[in-house]
Amino acid sequence: MATATATRKFATRNDLASDVRESMVGLLNQHLADTFDLGSQIKQAHWNVKGPQFYQLHTLFDSLADSVEDYVDLIAERATALGGTAMGTARMAASNSRLPEYPLDAVSGMQHVAALVERFANLAKTTRAAIETAASAGDTSTSDLFTEVSRGLDKHLWFLESHLAAEAGK
Ligand SMILES: [Fe+2]
Repeated sequence: MATATATRKFATRNDLASDVRESMVGLLNQHLADTFDLGSQIKQAHWNVKGPQFYQLHTLFDSLADSVEDYVDLIAERATALGGTAMGTARMAASNSRLPEYPLDAVSGMQHVAALVERFANLAKTTRAAIETAASAGDTSTSDLFTEVSRGLDKHLWFLESHLAAEAGK
């Protein structure tokens, strides 16, 4: 994970202390990697899902990917606003992401939904923790950003889990 934190810094008139900004840039770059990775994995599901619910899930996955890609942009731009460097290429995301790789054996709609539920839950958990990490460091704006992302991820998780609950008759 060293590359996620050891990024070039730039001078800024932002009044947050430099050590706070540095730690926030590291936190943001970790989430940039994780969130970018999730966005690409949702697209993987969007392209490869098959079965009777194909079109509904193909369309849902695309709308989830759009939202997650918006979060990637918010996170990256917060890192640069704090004087950091956004670590935003696919290779950087791949080497720094904490998410598991997407399962190549997923074919049916519910296999893709289950794979995405696991990954959204994973990212929703670390994003919720980041709200507190940023607030404790004194950066309430980064905390607010993570709050926005967290609220969206929770909603997306609900959208996905609702498919599994219906199938199980729960
Ligand atoms: Fe598409």
